[in-house]
Amino acid sequence: MPTVVIIGASRGIGLGFAQAYAAEGWEVHATTRTPENPGELADIAGNVSIRGLDVRNADQISALAEAFEGGVIDHLINSAGVLRGVDRDEMMAVNADAPFNIVAALFDAVARSTHKKIAILTSQMGARHGGGTPSDLYGESKCILNDRFREIEPEWRAAGVTSVVFHPGWVATDMGGRSASVSIDESVTGMRRVIAGLAPADSGKFLTWSGAEHPW
Ligand SMILES: NC(=O)c1ccc[n+]([C@@H]2O[C@H](COP(=O)([O-])OP(=O)(O)OC[C@H]3O[C@@H](n4cnc5c(N)ncnc54)[C@H](OP(=O)(O)O)[C@@H]3O)[C@@H](O)[C@H]2O)c1
Repeated sequence: MPTVVIIGASRGIGLGFAQAYAAEGWEVHATTRTPENPGELADIAGNVSIRGLDVRNADQISALAEAFEGGVIDHLINSAGVLRGVDRDEMMAVNADAPFNIVAALFDAVARSTHKKIAILTSQMGARHGGGTPSDLYGESKCILNDRFREIEPEWRAAGVTSVVFHPGWVATDMGGRSASVSIDESVTGMRRVIAGLAPADSGKFLTWSGAEHPW
């Protein structure tokens, strides 16, 4: 079965991805900052490896990459993100820097795989819609993520890897809150369907969980 690595799978959308891929028999590698206390990750039946990773920690990223030396990652999904309760440095490190550090470390394993797909969760809050950079910190961090993605994605594409960034919807997680309009299941089901159907020509797109193109 194919292999998926899900970054930030302790709860929310990342946990939903881990549950859904495991239910279909994939080899799932799910990262959490607290592997000693894996919470709901430990309850998932199937082929699931729980791996420790704080995405700000370069040594931990290297250790994760070592685990895939010579191995393959069919889908790499970066779901880790922060919205509130952190300072500017942490917001930028987690939302804008870490996704690229992680892809850089795991890229060869993705490029060796059969599916060769990368999905990074951004947000509609990071869109400029033709205007300037979003003024709130979270929007700014996701806008930087989007800009960096557009800059580097052609290199990834040239190496045969198909990558997209997703707005997952306004999703009922700790981050999205209870009144959010999209369930974790709807969001994850939609994004998994979209990822499964991605062709190389789709690489570089900003998509919603339902597969629509989102303006930058
Ligand atoms: N929910 C929404 O409405 C919404 C809308 C637009 C975009 N998004 C994006 O979708 C992604 C997932 O959001 P969510 O709603 O599932 O959020 P969530 O429920 O708050 O979960 C966030 C996840 O990120 C992990 N994380 C945070 N900082 C980390 C770090 N330094 N190292 C490793 N993992 C870290 C958390 O781990 P811990 O448990 O250790 O904290 C948790 O697993 C995020 O990128 C978010 O910006 C969400």
